Amino acid sequence: VHVYLYGCGNVGGHLLSMVSERHAAIAERDGVDLRVAAISNRRGTWLDPAGLDLARFRETPARPVDAPGTIDALARLPVPVFVDCSAAPDAAALYEHAFRAGVSVVTANKLPLVQPLAEHRQLLCAQRASARGFFYETTVGADLPVLAPIADRIRSGDRITRIEGSLSGTLGFLSDKIARGVDLEAALTDAQARGYTEPDPGEDLSGRDVARKALILAREIGLAVSADDVALEPFIAAELLELAGSRGLASVLARASDGLDATVRDAHASGRTLRYLAVIDPAAARPVRVGPSLVPNEHPAATLRGTEALVALTTERSAPYAVVIRGPGAGGAVTASGVLADIVRAASAR
Ligand SMILES: NC(=O)c1ccc[n+]([C@@H]2O[C@H](COP(=O)([O-])OP(=O)(O)OC[C@H]3O[C@@H](n4cnc5c(N)ncnc54)[C@H](OP(=O)(O)O)[C@@H]3O)[C@@H](O)[C@H]2O)c1
Repeated sequence: VHVYLYGCGNVGGHLLSMVSERHAAIAERDGVDLRVAAISNRRGTWLDPAGLDLARFRETPARPVDAPGTIDALARLPVPVFVDCSAAPDAAALYEHAFRAGVSVVTANKLPLVQPLAEHRQLLCAQRASARGFFYETTVGADLPVLAPIADRIRSGDRITRIEGSLSGTLGFLSDKIARGVDLEAALTDAQARGYTEPDPGEDLSGRDVARKALILAREIGLAVSADDVALEPFIAAELLELAGSRGLASVLARASDGLDATVRDAHASGRTLRYLAVIDPAAARPVRVGPSLVPNEHPAATLRGTEALVALTTERSAPYAVVIRGPGAGGAVTASGVLADIVRAASAR
């Protein structure tokens, strides 16, 4: 299996370490000889069709980034997989290029999956026509299996009637810290240092990152929705986010922190906990809703700790029970582990 890794920061870096460490074990267990033939960041590309030396490739000269050209070179190798661990907004065009060239795609990047509906359908058509794999499990729950169980149920003729989740490990981490008396700025600095936040943490605080995950889930269960259809209430007040747009995020964190402190204190006094929830209800007037919620302390989301995320799926067959999936919802290493699983899936699907 030949991989082109596009984006080699936190998630991509952990992925390379895992491939180095686990190469022999994966070959033995899954029969997959995994070679990283190309790696790009914004500054350059390293390419070696025989497989890059993952410990030393940075010591060798990089060539200019030409992602379509590198995908074409990858397509000439056995079992090619394009792996997107960037936050590039325009990567969907690369996926289409990859599918047309006969290359499977694995991605942790949500942005190419939340394009307007017409473009999204075009991407899925390109994938179907190519008969190549397209795996993006980590875009919703990092290492949590969420999309595969949904696909399994739909395949069997079941219908998803509701999805409720605390989808952001980052906002969960921040809520947990704030509830323990840490101010927002310190909690956010800590989350950034641990690699939990989006490359731009404004994407977390605005709720846009969760809105994208909710949109991916909604499309996965067959709803024809776009970003504008998501009813979104941000994690911090909308007027502060607007100010942050012109003055920078750091300038509003103290005021946002005061507001959140008050919310958490009031919630605590009434036996409730602040959580940032996504609800997908196909029968509702606004089927996709995302926003802060004060949940009773006995609610499953109230018991989450640190970066834990939770997704509860209710289906026609499961009702009145829900299938509950819970675990770490952010972090470079856990996300890389999900990406690696998707690469092996893509290789096995051929
Ligand atoms: N961290 C998590 O917990 C988590 C969980 C689930 C999903 N994700 C997703 O995983 C992706 C990567 O996250 P991360 O935390 O690893 O971010 P990161 O540390 O900022 O790394 C991003 C990498 O992508 C490269 N990159 C960005 N734009 C590019 C472009 N246009 N062309 C080529 N390379 C480009 C960057 O290059 P430079 O180094 O040159 O800047 C960097 O190597 C994001 O889409 C994120 O939403 C992250």
